[in-house]
Amino acid sequence: MGPLVVANWKMNGSEQLLQAVVQQVEGLIGPTGIKVVLALPAPYLSLTKGFDDTQIEWAGQNVHWLKSGAYTGEVSASMLLELGAGWSLVGHSERRQYCAETDEMVLEKTKACLALGLRPIVCVGENLQERQAGKALEVVCRQLLGVLKGVPRDLAPLIVVAYEPVWAIGTGEEASPEIAQEVHAALKRAARKEIDTVALRVLYGGSVNADNAAVLMSMPDVDGVLVGGASLDALGFRRLCEQVAGSV
Ligand code: PGA
Repeated sequence: MGPLVVANWKMNGSEQLLQAVVQQVEGLIGPTGIKVVLALPAPYLSLTKGFDDTQIEWAGQNVHWLKSGAYTGEVSASMLLELGAGWSLVGHSERRQYCAETDEMVLEKTKACLALGLRPIVCVGENLQERQAGKALEVVCRQLLGVLKGVPRDLAPLIVVAYEPVWAIGTGEEASPEIAQEVHAALKRAARKEIDTVALRVLYGGSVNADNAAVLMSMPDVDGVLVGGASLDALGFRRLCEQVAGSV
């Protein structure tokens, strides 16, 4: 499987940006074998039906764990699927921090995705205090195992994990390739022990850009990247995808 580039627009973007990014990036996918997934604000997902023949894939940024109901502002897994999304981010640190998402909610959301065949991209990551206290591996493995222990075994391989150290998100201070490698290897070891899968894919996210993507991707256990700020400039994002493609 080729490397995966997931763009997380957060609460940014416009219809014009969507057009521009698709135009810049879609031609790279076939020839290079990379997979590109755009995690868009939910309203923009409804525009993606206009890009019928593209190989770009679509993701929600959040999903509720229930099928429907009186939950103003929320989006269900079936709604994401209906809009053409094949993926959803789950448990991004900004949702954990600003929307009080707990490990339990992250598990329920992951289960809701898996039940309908929507592939969850489960985000884990330690904050600065936890890193400084030497607890990074303990924190991320706890977050991951909380999910893996609760989902049906046969569906667990559909999960993609994103290691996003909170101190590296939007700060311009990416984790060193060595740190990313150490954490990714630990996550894969923990997953192998728990669900006996060899195939867990782990993305790195946190201040990834066109200049550092290749060196991060050169690490053996970095299977792709999750990109926030640097995905909001169409040309720059194209350069980043080229770097990822060139690293394999
Ligand atoms: P960043 O965000 O690339 O802007 O640091 C990454 C993310 O939050 O997914």
